[in-house]
Amino acid sequence: AIDLASIQELINANKNQAGALLPILHAIQDKLGFIPEHVVPLIARALNLSRAEVHGVITFYHHFKQAAPKPHTLQICRAEACQSMGAEALWDKVCQHRAVRSQELDVEAVYCLGLCSTAPAALLDGRLQARLTENKLNDLLNQLPA
Ligand code: FES
Repeated sequence: AIDLASIQELINANKNQAGALLPILHAIQDKLGFIPEHVVPLIARALNLSRAEVHGVITFYHHFKQAAPKPHTLQICRAEACQSMGAEALWDKVCQHRAVRSQELDVEAVYCLGLCSTAPAALLDGRLQARLTENKLNDLLNQLPA
């Protein structure tokens, strides 16, 4: 659970400077990794803004995330060499996986990891996975720690 008192402290520490909204949003995201919806009213109250105004700024800057980062990230190479070795089928399979549906895993496309000789290639939480097959990928994803 998020410690709202510590968020309020962050807000209080920054609210008197000019243009306080951005520093406050940065401080919260640095602390939590995202800006939870329910801190928006706290910020709005402290700065005398409407919730819509605060929300507008959060959505305007792509830097600010509105949801907690997922525990795992799989980056699958979808560039040519990997495609010719079946990367697209792997991509489709992964998108159906339980870990994606349960919000444990974020899947991103990348375009060449410089590992074309061991295609299809991917990175799971930054670790290289070479010569992937559907079975290998399934084993990896089924073993992800929650
Ligand atoms: Fe996939 Fe180069 S094309 S690693």
